[in-house]
Formats: sequence, C-alpha cells, structure tokens
Amino acid sequence: MRIIKMIRGACHGFEPYVAGKPVETLKRELGIKSVIKLASNENPLGASKQTIKAIKANLEKIFFYPDSSSFELKKSLSERYLLPTENVFVAAGGDEIIELIAKLFFNPEDEVVISKHSFIRYGMAVMLMSSKAVVVPMKDGFAYDLSALAKACNKNTKAVFVTNPNNPTGTYNTKQELSEFFKKLPLNKFDSKPVVILDEAYFEYASLEKDYPNGLDYLKNNPNLIVFRTFSKIYGLAGLRVAYGFASKEIVDYIERIRPPFNVNFLAQVAAKAAIIDKEQVAKSQKLVKKEKRYLYREFEKLNIKYLKSAANFILFNARPLKGKELFTKLLNNGVITRAMDEYDLHEWVRVTVGLHKENELFIKKLKIFLET
Ligand SMILES: Cc1ncc(COP(=O)(O)O)c(C=O)c1O
Repeated sequence: MRIIKMIRGACHGFEPYVAGKPVETLKRELGIKSVIKLASNENPLGASKQTIKAIKANLEKIFFYPDSSSFELKKSLSERYLLPTENVFVAAGGDEIIELIAKLFFNPEDEVVISKHSFIRYGMAVMLMSSKAVVVPMKDGFAYDLSALAKACNKNTKAVFVTNPNNPTGTYNTKQELSEFFKKLPLNKFDSKPVVILDEAYFEYASLEKDYPNGLDYLKNNPNLIVFRTFSKIYGLAGLRVAYGFASKEIVDYIERIRPPFNVNFLAQVAAKAAIIDKEQVAKSQKLVKKEKRYLYREFEKLNIKYLKSAANFILFNARPLKGKELFTKLLNNGVITRAMDEYDLHEWVRVTVGLHKENELFIKKLKIFLET
C-alpha cells in the first residue's frame, strides 16, 4: 500500500509551522520551575477581569454547540467599529482567516504577492492551494515595500498580503504609503484589482503611532480589501483562538458559505464579546508595551545590540556574534523562550516579545551572559 502516493502534491515537502514552545513543555523538558515565554507575542497581562468573569459565568453551558453564526459577537464588533454586521466575519484565529481566504480565492494558476520576511502563514496558505507565491524584497531589508508589491502585480495576480505592522520586523507602513498602494494596484485578468488582505494583528499597539493607518478607513473605496485583526494579542485570548475581519458584503457572504460550522467555540465567542468593549485593558497593555519597549531599546543600546524599532509588542534584534538559533537555544536552555528567525530567512536575528518588567529584566540578564561570554 502506498498511501503516500495519494497525498496531494501541494502537501509533499510541506514544512509544519514551528510554534513557540509552551511554558509547561519547557519546564518538563528542563526539569526547572521557572520559565518565561517571550516567544509568541501574547499579552503578559492576560485577559481582562471582565473577560475572565464572562467566561466563568458561561462554563456550565459548554455542553451546547456554540451559535454557529457568532451572532452576538459579530453584533458587538459591528457596534464597536461602526460597520454593518454584513461586513463582519469571525473565525478561529487569524490563522483560520488566512486559510479561509486562500480556499476562497486561490487557484493553482493564480499568483499571490507576498513580502519577504513577513508572516510565514501566508506563503504556507498559498503553497497549500498549489498557487504561485511571488515574493517581493523588503525596503532597506526590513520594511514592507508597498510600491514594489504593487509593481509585482500582473494579470494573474489574485491577491496581495500586507501585514501592518509587520511580524517579525515590527516595522509599519504609513497612511500615505497605504493610500498610494491602493491607487497603484493594477487590474488583473478578471478586470478587478487583486484582493488585498490587510493583516492588522497588532493594530492596537501600532495605533499609538501618529501616521499609522486604520485599515477600516480604506474599506469604503476598496471593495477588494479584507482587513483582519485578532483577539490573541492585546486582548490576551490566544488560547481561545478567535479573530475577526471586515470586508464587502459579497466577500463576507462567501466566507460564511465555506467556513466550517461552529468554527468559533462558545467560550471564545463569550470572551471576545466581553473583551472588545474593555478599553481599559487595551490602554493598560499599550502603556506597558510602550514603556517596556523603551527599557529594552535602552538595554540593547548599552549592549551594542542592533535592533529594529517596533510598532508592535515584540522586537527583532541581532544576535551577533552568535547565530540567532544559537542564542535562542542558549536562552531556551536557561528558561527564556524567545523565537529564532530561521524560517523567516533572518538567521542572525531573534524576536523577543515584550513581557512584564521583571521578565524583560531577566531576559536582559541572560542576554548579557550569553553575548558577553
Ligand atoms: C501578523 C500575524 N497575523 C496573524 C497571526 C495569527 O494570529 P491568531 O491565529 O492567533 O489570531 C499572527 C500571530 O502571531 C501574526 O503575527
């Protein structure tokens, strides 16, 4: 029996996503009690009190299937962002949103434009659909080059992925750059502009930057635009898997047709609904990250470590004289989980999530030991 022969060509050689190591796994592996995770851009403050309260109040209802339409959550999102519910969709994380969009639009003959050193799940989704990824270099090595992305579009281009701010570089594109990008996009053979998937997973952190654009402002004039955000980052709900997006009624209708039923679980719906109105928690998290980024920048400078200023809650820094993977491993073996960047083709770099002050201090303490010896 050659079961392998029956597997789709697109899945042969498919490399799995390398997820950040969970704290409990590392504790088990190293036999140590104290581990900190600064790997997956979660919010170290956790979910807000109100959100936890809402989850607890609903625990006894988990034997029911969730509302497959996520009606209440979509209604809250619609009220929060002042957009009709027909333009709102939700899914089990940004990861599911990326896959749903890929399933909806990408045929094997299609080209999809993505940027080098950007979120790795886009390329994976393109590969899974057997479409062609056109990878565009970054500006000055680390920032999205939106003009180059628009130039890379041709008759066969179905879609373009834009991450703002970008993971893992933390760089962002300005209002002006985004506006020009939409103007520059050419028509494809369907007599349409390519679908633009604007990933704003770190929107709330980046919104502190004066010239950072709000993707929702571009929806009205760009029916080809899909904007999505997540509850995994600032809202502290990564473990529940829930994200949301906005697009034209036509696109949302089709996403609704193809998504799995009950894709957003019951507790995720309850939690997200409570989280989205908790402005205090957002402000507290923004403040922490802003302050702690300043602390980390200062420490990097003292250590002569090259880093990139970030609009998000993580920082990409250079591990020289070590390779990124070497430094990552040393930190890991000492109970600090960061993220090596090999799969992003950034072999000299490591990404660290901004943690609580005491976590950041511990990270810097370990860093000093490994980079000075
Ligand atoms: C840029 C970006 N987009 C999307 C996601 C997916 O987030 P989630 O699936 O947790 O909503 C992430 C997670 O790290 C991300 O960094």
